[in-house]
Amino acid sequence: MEILGIDVGGTGIKAAIVNVETGELSADRKRIPTPRPATPDAIANVIKKLVKHFHWEGSVGCGFPALLKNGICLSGGNLHEDWKGINVGELFKNTAGNKFTVVNDADAAGIAEMNFGAGKDKNGVVIMITLGTGIGSAVFLDGKLLPNTEFGHLLNRHGESFEIYAADSARKREKLSQKKWGKRLHKYFSHLNFIMSPDLIIIGGGASKRVHKFIHKIEIDTPIAPAQAENDAGIIGAAMAAKFNNK
Ligand code: BGC
Repeated sequence: MEILGIDVGGTGIKAAIVNVETGELSADRKRIPTPRPATPDAIANVIKKLVKHFHWEGSVGCGFPALLKNGICLSGGNLHEDWKGINVGELFKNTAGNKFTVVNDADAAGIAEMNFGAGKDKNGVVIMITLGTGIGSAVFLDGKLLPNTEFGHLLNRHGESFEIYAADSARKREKLSQKKWGKRLHKYFSHLNFIMSPDLIIIGGGASKRVHKFIHKIEIDTPIAPAQAENDAGIIGAAMAAKFNNK
């Protein structure tokens, strides 16, 4: 069975047809830069273009980079404040015509890794952290998702959100060396490890390809694994979420 998966990110919107039995992409993925300002209309138009690109008429799974409750966006996150209060799935359905299942982007990436990747068959507490424009989180207990955690918004000792201090966008914005960024990541993951005592931490998002460059800087006693699907985990997990929703 195939489902179109879309991952809305702060810099790019990526889509691919996903084989939801195997977790593999069935065709090359397509990426369109995230329009700025990233208003609801601008993003919905990109979603429509992606659906057209794949000539897709079936249901669509979409990972969205903000807090969603019962489909309603509770904050504009790194996109635009106009998203607040919008029913994201309904907007995309009205623009593109297909049925949409919309979930938080980090929850989507976590679902992919728990089904096919670094978290497969892992019991206990598994935390997926995505490092990209923002910091996203997904928490699983014995494989079951606790949705809508926002651990990127934990505060550091200066009272500043860790997302602003340690996301991949902070590294780029402040032109941090791997060493300096690694130190910040160490502080973030030590704090997370202390408050959650997870059994495994999976790191994904835009920085997942480079995990080997900084993983040794994070000195905690909990195992850390890179996302096996790297940055495609968000697309794959979004399609999986649509599969579960259509059951
Ligand atoms: C948002 C999260 C999202 C993360 C990664 C954060 O700013 O609050 O909902 O998962 O960015 O995109």
